[in-house]
Amino acid sequence: MSTPKKRILSGIQPSGSLTIGNYLGALKQWVARQEVYDCFYCIVDLHAITVPQDPTELREKTREVAAIFIAAGLDPQKAAIFVQSHVTAHAELGWILTCLAPLGWLYRMTQFKDKSAKQAQEESIGAGLLNYPTLMAADILLYQSSAVPVGDDQRQHLEYTRDLAQRFNHLYGDTFTIPEAMIPEIGARIMGLDTPLAKMSKSEASEAHAVFMLDAPEVIRKKMMRAVTDSGRDILFSDDPEKAGVNNLLTIYQAFSGKTREAVEADFANARGYGDLKKAVAEITVESLRPMQEEYHKLIHEPGYLDGILRDGAAQARAVADKTLATVKHNIGFLAS
Ligand code: TYM
Repeated sequence: MSTPKKRILSGIQPSGSLTIGNYLGALKQWVARQEVYDCFYCIVDLHAITVPQDPTELREKTREVAAIFIAAGLDPQKAAIFVQSHVTAHAELGWILTCLAPLGWLYRMTQFKDKSAKQAQEESIGAGLLNYPTLMAADILLYQSSAVPVGDDQRQHLEYTRDLAQRFNHLYGDTFTIPEAMIPEIGARIMGLDTPLAKMSKSEASEAHAVFMLDAPEVIRKKMMRAVTDSGRDILFSDDPEKAGVNNLLTIYQAFSGKTREAVEADFANARGYGDLKKAVAEITVESLRPMQEEYHKLIHEPGYLDGILRDGAAQARAVADKTLATVKHNIGFLAS
């Protein structure tokens, strides 16, 4: 008898346009994993509303992200693709775990510190922003996921999830699988083109900051040519903060090309300067995104097809999530309905 496939779950917020950071750090590996694992991939709209969202835009972005998932190679026959709010167990387990979540753990989260610092007044910071990692823990634990494919910035949230799961298991008996973070070797932390010491983010206002998966070729070329570098000439991988811009461009090139570091450096051994590097990074980005963009532009005109995939995905997700939630409710002492 064959052993059942291990389960993985991951999610992306529909809070803006997806960047090449989201693709290289998360989506690309989601596609690769769907052959081997039992996969659940969700569009986390409940997380998106931890900061203010325009309702019309949120609805549009949710469909846009679904279309990008499929255009990037996720196959609804192999992976359940769904919207978080369509599976009510997420919010329910989120509440139950909230009652177990120590405030001290939540205040320590870097993402909360960063995001709350951006919202000037305490009154305008929603409690959801603080509790964000608890809902993320609910997403993961509902599916008894053994691994969670994410970029490097989610490492701390994964640690929090493990701690919370262990706390629950300790108090109420073995209920949850303790998940591992699954972080790619290359592309786990793509930096901003204009701020190579800070992570590329979909919500950064500056035009020169991020390349979006749906950017037109000429826009990508323009952004890459404007990328911040340094006054040197060496085109080599480096941990030196001074060289962070060049290192980031080389990492993008490596992640898209699938080459080794040595092969990437060899490609630029005869370059005449950073201009050549930027052109090459722009071209490989344009060419890698081209087939996905073509597919996206077809899919986005078929909202009925996309909604059908999300409906089927939610049904598959519910079958697993509701079972875990029932066990949780029993273990904590809720009377059966
Ligand atoms: P989000 O929407 O910010 O990002 C989605 C995924 O993209 C990765 N990522 C990056 N990887 C490399 N370089 C970058 N510059 C970069 N920017 C983003 C993120 O690491 C992430 O994997 N909290 C999550 C969403 C979430 C989730 C979950 C993830 C909610 N529930 C359960 C996993 C499991 C987030 O904000 O992702």
